[in-house]
Amino acid sequence: MPTRQKIRTAIIGYGRNGESMHGQAVFDSEQFEMVAVADIEPEARNKAEEKFSCNVYENYHQMLDKEQLDLVVIVTRSNQHCEMVCDCMAAEVNTLITKPWCLNEGEAQQMVAAAKRSSKILMPWLPARWGSDFLRLKELIAEGIIGKVFRIYRAEYSFATRNDWQTEKQNGGGYLLNWGPHIIEPPILLADSPVKDIYGSLNQVINPGNVEDLFSTTITLANGVIIQAEYNINAIKKLPRWIVQGDQGTIIVDDTTLTIHAGVPSTPLDPTQKEYMSVAELAITTEELQGNIYGDSSALYKAIAQAVHGEQTYPVTLESTLYLTKIFDAVRQSSIEHQVVKF
Ligand SMILES: NC(=O)c1ccc[n+]([C@@H]2O[C@H](COP(=O)([O-])OP(=O)(O)OC[C@H]3O[C@@H](n4cnc5c(N)ncnc54)[C@H](O)[C@@H]3O)[C@@H](O)[C@H]2O)c1
Repeated sequence: MPTRQKIRTAIIGYGRNGESMHGQAVFDSEQFEMVAVADIEPEARNKAEEKFSCNVYENYHQMLDKEQLDLVVIVTRSNQHCEMVCDCMAAEVNTLITKPWCLNEGEAQQMVAAAKRSSKILMPWLPARWGSDFLRLKELIAEGIIGKVFRIYRAEYSFATRNDWQTEKQNGGGYLLNWGPHIIEPPILLADSPVKDIYGSLNQVINPGNVEDLFSTTITLANGVIIQAEYNINAIKKLPRWIVQGDQGTIIVDDTTLTIHAGVPSTPLDPTQKEYMSVAELAITTEELQGNIYGDSSALYKAIAQAVHGEQTYPVTLESTLYLTKIFDAVRQSSIEHQVVKF
């Protein structure tokens, strides 16, 4: 079999996540080669040069002009994504854009249009779709182990204050954009039905800046499933990360421990019987989730390599990512108007 050419890769934004997640995934994979990094900070450029012995640029436009690239990975602040994606698409380079891919539907539509004009592909990074919790829950729901799912609760908690660009609206900060891709989309995918209406509440509690550090949302789907998703700050005692309820049981994910409580509710033999009947027999099984609950970068980079080589379609479509952006916009609108938004 002929060996495949390494994918000539560049990163725009070699900061915290550019270095730890994407730089490391490229470094670890034999399918990719880091040929250039662009960052406005000299310190970031020095780090990249040291790690990859690659060309470094202060100005990403110069990098796009000079380098022959197969892939650009954009990991800058969230308010910078749209313009950079459009520039990379216009430069005819395959582009991976971190989450959130942009700030709102208007920007998303601009990027989709830029991708349509380009002969190259735009790949949104939604790692929670590869999360070990999500994948295992998908299997269990498909097996029907808890019957028909009617409600999914998904939450993340922290007890910390942050004081960086993520606390400022002008940078695209806030926990809805930052955490929504991880915790709002997966339960909707599990319930597998279009969104019908959305109630959202965004609050700023302890962080400095001018954006929410807490959000909660209730989403009703066309099949009747109710999704509740929240990011909760200053929460000392963590509640479970997932509670998936079906008509024959409940699955609870507490950190990386998944517990299935399965049982068939009793039905009255005598229909006139009025007493309370608990589930006759409850089977409880527990397992430890293996792998990364936020998505295994090496698995994502395998999918990216296949897409760049034209072997497989990248699994995250632009349409589904645009749909998610519209959901975030509706959560924000609901919070401002204090009412349910029809979707
Ligand atoms: N699990 C995940 O997928 C995950 C985790 C963390 C962050 N992120 C996302 O990654 C993005 C970056 O977050 P971060 O925490 O790494 O931020 P960061 O501030 O640490 O990194 C951003 C980098 O971009 C550089 N930069 C700014 N303007 C630039 C320009 N014009 N050209 C080139 N470089 C420029 C900065 O100098 C900095 O090094 C955010 O959108 C965030 O939501 C994703």
